[in-house]
Amino acid sequence: MKTEVCSQAGPGKRDSLVDGAQADGERDSSVPELSEHFIPDRDGDRDLVTVTFSLRNTKNSGLSRALKIFEAFEAQIHHVESRPSRKGKVGIDDLDFFIRCEINNSAVNSLLNSLRRVAEDVCANKEEKVPWFPRKIQDLDRCHHLITKFEPDLDQAHPGYQDLEYRERRSNVARLAFHYKQGESLPRVDYTTEERATWKEVYTKLSTLYPSHACKQFLDAFHILEKHCGYQADNIPQLQDVSNFLKERTGFRLHPTAGLLSPRDFLASLAFRVFQCTQYIRHSSSPMHSPEPDCCHELLGHIPMLADKQFAQFSQELGLASLGASDEDIEKLSTLYWFTIEFGLCKQNGVLKAYGAGLLSSYGELMYSLSGEPQYKAFDPEVTAMQTYQDQTFQPVYFVSESFEDAKSKLWMYACKIRRPFSLRYDPLTCSVDLLDKPHKIKKALTQIADELKNLCFALDKLS
Ligand SMILES: [Fe+2]
Repeated sequence: MKTEVCSQAGPGKRDSLVDGAQADGERDSSVPELSEHFIPDRDGDRDLVTVTFSLRNTKNSGLSRALKIFEAFEAQIHHVESRPSRKGKVGIDDLDFFIRCEINNSAVNSLLNSLRRVAEDVCANKEEKVPWFPRKIQDLDRCHHLITKFEPDLDQAHPGYQDLEYRERRSNVARLAFHYKQGESLPRVDYTTEERATWKEVYTKLSTLYPSHACKQFLDAFHILEKHCGYQADNIPQLQDVSNFLKERTGFRLHPTAGLLSPRDFLASLAFRVFQCTQYIRHSSSPMHSPEPDCCHELLGHIPMLADKQFAQFSQELGLASLGASDEDIEKLSTLYWFTIEFGLCKQNGVLKAYGAGLLSSYGELMYSLSGEPQYKAFDPEVTAMQTYQDQTFQPVYFVSESFEDAKSKLWMYACKIRRPFSLRYDPLTCSVDLLDKPHKIKKALTQIADELKNLCFALDKLS
């Protein structure tokens, strides 16, 4: 039994993580350095190494001989420092050296052995490499790695596999996303009569379930979308109109995507309050099922929830946690995404309600998820991140959040434990992330927060 609607417009299937990691490895190498303290992982054969050693009586060309060794091993030196040696009884010309260099990992031991012939106390530390990640919203134009195996050209189980006309149409709509650059107007699609009929069928059927099954936040936003954003059974909303609506509500905006993105790229977009959204629609022969994300899934499942401030913040936290994370952590974050943003349930007035897009865009699974039949567990990121999930049938287990505020604070605690050699902070004014890797940067951020607190205290005084 398959789910009626594909539920991942980004991270999703476990296989896709492998594909995603491969895609990330293929990213172009014109990447600026991120920080003095770590480098993006551009070349798997090169290590960033800090080497310390002592030279006695540097007047005797010891330094020259040491540097020649670095040169012989084609080490690219990034930084050199020296200071008078602190060890034991030393002369005025005895110095300790610190050299930071990039070198082929197979050459590190040989370099150190050679260095030990001319220097004392030779030590080395490899620095951690960090996968490339976008630093500003414009960088999202480079987050476009697709998982293509569920597309109708490749997936024989896709309802449109044998329909060449459908495949060409899907490809033409997807192509609009290939040429899109961040900040441009979102492309508009002139949907055909057949496409609008498919939308109508999905929209009409799901709308009957929303009042009883969807959470309050979803319903509130859905009503506004129907009133002001072209959400009607007879009309497929355009991404630009929806993006304008979201920007006003929560600062989220849409970015067109040509298909299912790699988990790393999809999560990274959330960090900038950008939701990557497909525009083509599923095959008309199968209105209740699509093996890949399509506009029905995005517009009906995801968009209403992104209009809620707490949920938007939760989504962004998940994205921020993914920036520069290891492949293992990306997989865990993708699983968290799966069981919350795609298949999450919450409790409202003691009653279970759906907020996950995979549920809210799937008539069958929406019914099943609240039927009492599956297993329900309280949302706990440590547990949820390790849960195996299903992408071919309904989920055997669903995670229930007490509230989005509660889910957000639990996720934040979880994200703090993710091992990264830096901390970062999102700057909403410039839509960029600041690396908090220097004391002055942290002080500057603290000053801004202190100013904001003063302003809030002043406002509170005024009221009282
Ligand atoms: Fe999705």
